[in-house]
Amino acid sequence: MADPSYDAARHYDRVTRAWGLLLGDDLHYGLFATGTETLAEATRALTDRMVRAAAIEPDVEVLDVGCGTGTPACVLTRDHGARVTGITTSPVGVEAATARAVAAGVGGLARFEVRDGTDNGYPDASFDRVWVLESSHLMRARGRLIAECARVLRPGGVLALCDIVLRRPLSFSDVRRLREPLTLLRHVFGDAHMEPLGRYAELAEEHGLVVDGLTDLTAATRPTFARWRDNARRHGDEVVALLGEAGWARFVDSCTVLEGLWDDGTLGYGLLAAHRGAREGHGPGDGRPDGS
Ligand SMILES: C[S@@+](CC[C@H](N)C(=O)[O-])C[C@H]1O[C@@H](n2cnc3c(N)ncnc32)[C@H](O)[C@@H]1O
Repeated sequence: MADPSYDAARHYDRVTRAWGLLLGDDLHYGLFATGTETLAEATRALTDRMVRAAAIEPDVEVLDVGCGTGTPACVLTRDHGARVTGITTSPVGVEAATARAVAAGVGGLARFEVRDGTDNGYPDASFDRVWVLESSHLMRARGRLIAECARVLRPGGVLALCDIVLRRPLSFSDVRRLREPLTLLRHVFGDAHMEPLGRYAELAEEHGLVVDGLTDLTAATRPTFARWRDNARRHGDEVVALLGEAGWARFVDSCTVLEGLWDDGTLGYGLLAAHRGAREGHGPGDGRPDGS
């Protein structure tokens, strides 16, 4: 049985304020083109990359699964005119996202609810886009997550998902060697479970979606860890007040662990784009969202 101390909702309720200091307003990795960008520029670049993958356009209805504190939803509504329903299992996240959207003047276009991405409860075919930005690694029931994403997509709708991925199979000795580092990551980031990007593609196809592209973003996300470590040092006192000395030290160590796992080819970052065919029962290539 899962250890309840790693329950995703409780984990995010506990870390949300500290994450604002360490990760910034966007609770996700940065996408660095030159490596000289600020963390805020790079996290925005990842959101923009997802915007392109999801073919976001005015008036589309987006389900944002694992919406964090609502920064991506504000971009989708304010800058692209989309309508967003953001869900997270964290009540603290819903409160923060709602406040952020109101402050940004997009409260009428974005709403946030406590719901589980693996059992979202929305009617079939009720969204034009499903957006999963770095939350899937926290949902062990990966098949249920993708099934739910596919179920709520309208014909022609697009799924865009990006996340930390496993880049090579782990041998038994790898698992033994990595036990300590992975336990550390679990303490810091919650009950993360990574899959190869190809596994996401298989699941999408199993649930009737057509995969349009898989993109490896490992190298471009690598500078994120140095920025997080800088933030930990810059906001040391505040983070210690929120997470304790040990929590601060674990966060800093986890950045080094992640750099090692990125560099030795174990973990990385990937993006999947897929769509639901316009007419049920038709093969790949039908019903592209851009009508092509
Ligand atoms: C790394 S944060 C990403 C947040 C946001 N997408 C962003 O980019 O700023 C992961 C998010 O997934 C949420 N989450 C974790 N498990 C979830 C689940 N089963 N259903 C919905 N959201 C979940 C967390 O509460 C958190 O909001």
